[in-house]
Amino acid sequence: MVSTHPAEVQNAGTQYLPQRRNTSTNISPNQELLPLTAKVNSNDNLEIGGCDVTTLVEQFGSPLYILDEATLRTACQQYRDSFKKYYPGESQVLYASKAWSCLAVCAMIASEGLGIDVVSGGELYTALTAGMSPEKIYLHGNNKSRAELTLAIESGVTIVVDNWYELHTLVEILKAMSVPSTRIMLRLTPGIECHTHEYIRTGHLDSKFGFDPNDLGEVFEFVSKQPTLNCVGVHAHIGSQIFERQPHQDLGAVMVQWLRDAAKYGLNLTELNVGGGLGIKYVESDDPPSIEEWVKAICEVVQAACAAENLPLPKLLSEPGRSLIAPACVTAYTIGSSKTIPEIRTYVAIDGGMSDNPRPITYQSVYRAVVANKLSAPITETVTIAGKHCESGDILIKNAQLPKTEAGDILVVMGTGAYNYSMASNYNRLPRPAAVVVADGEANLILQRETYQDLIRQDCLPERLKS
Ligand code: LLP
Repeated sequence: MVSTHPAEVQNAGTQYLPQRRNTSTNISPNQELLPLTAKVNSNDNLEIGGCDVTTLVEQFGSPLYILDEATLRTACQQYRDSFKKYYPGESQVLYASKAWSCLAVCAMIASEGLGIDVVSGGELYTALTAGMSPEKIYLHGNNKSRAELTLAIESGVTIVVDNWYELHTLVEILKAMSVPSTRIMLRLTPGIECHTHEYIRTGHLDSKFGFDPNDLGEVFEFVSKQPTLNCVGVHAHIGSQIFERQPHQDLGAVMVQWLRDAAKYGLNLTELNVGGGLGIKYVESDDPPSIEEWVKAICEVVQAACAAENLPLPKLLSEPGRSLIAPACVTAYTIGSSKTIPEIRTYVAIDGGMSDNPRPITYQSVYRAVVANKLSAPITETVTIAGKHCESGDILIKNAQLPKTEAGDILVVMGTGAYNYSMASNYNRLPRPAAVVVADGEANLILQRETYQDLIRQDCLPERLKS
């Protein structure tokens, strides 16, 4: 039996349960800390997708990524429906699979009618193998290899060309392959500043990505003379985890100018891709716009700019990664040792860390956690959640507010669906955790836990080193 605690109970875990609103207003997953199906069950345990998280850990081991299918699908639907609602032209949402690329995620995305953006041969291979149709795949990258470009041409996906070197290489490869033409888009750096971590900001002029906008005319001219390049549009991406709407609105307006300029070179560009970047709520104070609000802002500005320029509406594409998948997943860990340094702090260690979530050590990202088996216990402790790696900086959460914990408790870190598994490593030779997808009380494995055999699979021991 499932009971939902009243919203006013401010305690260790239930405070994070999605607000059950009385109205039919859509809950935007990117504005919630826990997946939309999160509940507290009669054992005071956290339940996601109808599955008790502590039972999942017993069944599939620890640490465990738990992906809530309903939350992912809701986010997909909200993107899709919002574009339909606010944009009279054609639109296509692409999932930025760098956030989490694996067969099951790509297959769910495909079944929602979304396309996929890939940034490597590996992500491309994964998307194709998952059944994503090539017409809905877009290949990015600032240094695509010849092999990656060739695979993209052979598969019939759209190549988002990033720079002059790639443009020339592509023309050369197409000639050698005797392929009549391939679909491309051009990525430009819009010169737009946004407030996010320096490493995840890409739209400002000093960026490794995209053509310099000062080269715009030259690029259009070159492309217009290449019969093998079927250039369909322009692309830009200004950064990630963005809460302001203004930078994307500025972007939409700038990009419509690019479409207008292209026409001067005889290029009829009909697609405009504004990239991704909508932020999510990682902590209580984060206040991102909802998916619908973000889409609306972009649709309005593109329509207004097109009307001002007297241009037909382009097909509008966007590439959300984080806001689609981050809120749908949590990572469950088992608490082990702890160490109290009087007057300083208490470290509580878990059985994973920077290898399964490198974001805190890389970007100083902040996360929140709950104890899955003590969901409504009162908060009594402030502790530092330490990973198990041989590295002092391997701290997942500083000053976590938790109930009293003990070894064996299941700590659940929220919002881990994006850039966690995809950036995971085997540092200290820790096997990567398993991942399950949960829906309607059923859990299915989507990524197997790595074994020690997996860890040495690529190792080669030269004959002379064998004892
Ligand atoms: N499109 C392009 C061309 C991108 O480079 C990115 C992200 C996206 C779309 C998706 O952006 P999103 O909607 O997820 O914000 N590892 C970092 C994030 C790097 C983002 C790279 N590009 C992190 O963990 O925060």
